[in-house]
Parts: sequence; structure tokens; C-alpha cells
Amino acid sequence: MGQTTVLVGAQWGDEGKGKVIDILTEDAQYVVRYQGGNNAGHTVVIGESKYILHLIPSGILHEGKTCVIGHGVVVDPKALIEEIDLLIEQGISCEGRLKISDKAHVIFPYHNKVDELRESKRKGGKIGTTKRGIGPCYGDKVSRVGIRVADLFDKEYFRSRLETNLEEKNPILKAHGFEELSADDIYKTYLKYADRLKSFVCNTNQLLNNALKAGESILFEGAQGTFLDVDYGTYPYVTSSNSTAGGACTGGGIGPSYIDTVIGVVKAYTTRVGEGPFPTEFDPVMMEKIREKGGEFGATTGRARRCGWFDSVLVKNSVMINGMNEVVITKLDVLDEVASIKICTAYEYDGKVYEDIPGEVGFLDKCKPVYEEHPGWLRDTSKATSYEELPENAKKYLDRIKKLIGTEIKLVSVGKSRKQTLKVK
Ligand code: GDP
Ligand code: IMO
Ligand code: MG
Repeated sequence: MGQTTVLVGAQWGDEGKGKVIDILTEDAQYVVRYQGGNNAGHTVVIGESKYILHLIPSGILHEGKTCVIGHGVVVDPKALIEEIDLLIEQGISCEGRLKISDKAHVIFPYHNKVDELRESKRKGGKIGTTKRGIGPCYGDKVSRVGIRVADLFDKEYFRSRLETNLEEKNPILKAHGFEELSADDIYKTYLKYADRLKSFVCNTNQLLNNALKAGESILFEGAQGTFLDVDYGTYPYVTSSNSTAGGACTGGGIGPSYIDTVIGVVKAYTTRVGEGPFPTEFDPVMMEKIREKGGEFGATTGRARRCGWFDSVLVKNSVMINGMNEVVITKLDVLDEVASIKICTAYEYDGKVYEDIPGEVGFLDKCKPVYEEHPGWLRDTSKATSYEELPENAKKYLDRIKKLIGTEIKLVSVGKSRKQTLKVK
């Protein structure tokens, strides 16, 4: 790991980023979220305790590390306060080491309502969003009608922006049978939230650049995954931010020349929550088996995740898009009982073979995966204490993945806990 490392999900999210961040935090002074919001759900298991972080960087579980919510994140203050309070209940204090950017945009109840409304009215298939108001909030930001954290402290400005926004949103909500929202209620409630969060708010760009100058190390925690990125992903079945490595600069607050290393987190198979194309999706029997063994249920919404074979076309592209230097392979243990394992090496569509992903809408829906098949290892890997101890066929599977995606494997994860992590020499 260099002084500045960006960690990103290589597939459609839930690759196990939370676990890997927790491990890499040992070597970092700052952990920074740079995009997304409380649509994310990052799980960290320490001993008997399980923590699910939505907005607060997963580094918060390490004492003495500073955790930053950068300006590229969209902040739902209610959700954030609930998360801070839940951590307090679990014996973890954010005092003095959680920093929230004054430039981050704020999620308001009308964003959640519009999210819900759009999903219910969308002709030709919903996106399957988390309904956390993420898309509408980023929409307002780009349309220049958003309200930022700093704006909450300028009461007059805040009130006037809020009223203008409600004048626009309320008629839309009403026309679609939703209840109108009261500016007064939101204003009062959000002033209380602002008061509670005040001590955490600062200019995080300055903070991080000062840290760089002082030689301290920074770890950027990507949320979602490469193919949920609004530019690189399977549009429109994506989230509304840049979840790829470049987002760390635009949403985290440091210049591109400061990024030393990009690490991708890659699940040993593939999952996706919500709608959208998924070429290697399992048949129902295999789906059930892997979902159960892998505990593939959403950490944010509890929805059952769709599961499928490893797709090397996706991940190879992910390595390219993010400029990954190395990857961490997670959840290898979930494949322990699979006798024959498939890897997708290309797509076939209309008699042609593709090794990349054309932009054509619906392309992935139409193409058939080209598979190669590998014998499974049919042994428990979750107790392995070193990479060398892994069964031969497991190592062969990892070697094949490495060759197909064209990058080094740094770590292999074989279970939820910190110690179930193997270093690849
Ligand atoms: P994230 O959003 O990328 O942080 O991933 P999630 O936390 O949403 O989902 C990953 C899930 O897999 C969590 O329940 C983790 O505890 C679990 N997990 C992470 N690594 C491993 C692993 O190597 N093996 C197994 N069996 N579970 C893992
Ligand atoms: P982490 O960080 C998996 C998906 C939603 C939906 C699409 C758009 O835990 O990996 P949104 O609410 O963002 O507008 O939904 O993106 N999605 C995720 N899927 N992991 C996540 O985060 C996700 N965050 C959003 O399911 O398909
Ligand atoms: Mg998750």
C-alpha cells in the first residue's frame, strides 16, 4: 500500500469491501468515503461482533484513525445520527475522529419520495434502487438546486432554498398521490440535525491535503462497485455517483497525482442486487445453494442478492477502468462445496464473440456467456491459515482468475473474520 490508496468494488457491489477496509486500516491514518450515501452497507466482523456501516467509513472500528465523509458523498443526516448512536451503543465513539465535509450534499425527505415515485412509475422496468433518495439528491446537486451541509448553518439561505425546492417538488408529489411535505417541519428538524452534527463538520479537502503534506497515509473507501458507476456501469441500472477510482479525486478532495495505489475487491463469484443485466446469473438451484452458503442478503435493504459464476470479462474491464494495481479475492470459501466451477471468459452475441462490453443498451441482456469449467476442491478452505495451505484446485482457480484479469492478487479472503485472510506471496 502506498501513502494514498483507493479501494474499489470490482463488480456490482457487496464484494466484501468493508472487511478489506478494516484490515487495510491498520496501515492508514485516514479512511475516506468519497461517493454514494447510505445506499451502501459495509460489513465488518470482529470476534463475535458484527458492524454494518452505511455512511461512516469502516475504519471507525480502529481506535485513533480519522474517518472522513468527503464532499462527494450524499448525507442523510437522520441516517448518519442513527449510525453514530448505534456505534455509541456498541462502545465506539466518533467524537474527534469523524469529519464531515461542509460541501457534501444533504438528502431531504423529498429525495426519498421522488426515488420511490420514480421507481413506482418507471415504464419498462424499475432500477431496484435502495430508495434512500440517492439519485434525486445527486440530480439536484448537478442541477444546482441542492443544499449542502454548510448551507444548513446559514438559516436564511437554507430556508429560502428549501422553500424553492418544495415549490417544485410538492406539486409533483401531489400529482402522483404522495403527501405534500411541509417546509416548516423539515426546516425545524434539519436545524436540529445540523446542531447535533456541527462538531464533525469541517473543510475536509484542507484536512486531507494537510495530512498528505505531513506524510500521513490515506485510504479511500469506495462504495458500490465498478458496474454500478454512473459512467462506466450498466446504465441505467447503476447508482448515481462515480464509484470507480477516479471518484476519489472528484469526491474525496485530493489531486490525481497523489494517488499511489488502486486495489480492487473481487468476489470469487458474482452477485448483484436490484435489476439490470447479469449474464452469468445462476439457475435457481445453484442460486439457492450459493445464496445460502454466502449469506447473500443485502446489508442495507435485506433483499436477496442475485448470484452467478465469476465473470472475467467484467473484472478484466474493471481492472482497466480503475487502473488497479492489485486485487483482493473474497468469499473463496463459498465455493468449497461446488464440484465443477465455471468462469465466463467472453460473451457471445449474434454469432460474434466479445471480450469487452459495448455501450449498447441491453447488450449484456442479449449475450450468452462463454464458459470454461474447472474442477472444484471440495474441501473446507475457511480454516486455512496460509495461502500455501489452500487445496491445489483452489490455487489453480485463483491462478486462472489472475491470468484472465491481468493483475496480481494481494490477499485471499476465506471467511468473514479478520484472521480468515491469506496473504499471497
Ligand atoms: P461490501 O458492501 O463490499 O462491504 O460487502 P457486504 O458487507 O455488503 O457483503 C459482504 C458479506 O460477505 C458480508 O456479510 C461479509 O461479512 C461477508 N464476507 C466478507 N468476506 C467474506 C469471505 O471471505 N467469506 C465469507 N463467507 N463471507 C465473507
Ligand atoms: P455497497 O457499498 C450493492 C444498487 C441498488 C440498485 C442500484 C441503484 O454495499 O457495495 P441506488 O439506491 O444507489 O440509487 O440504487 O444500485 N446498489 C448497491 N448494490 N451494493 C451497494 O453498496 C449498492 N448501492 C446501491 O441495489 O440496483
Ligand atoms: Mg454492501
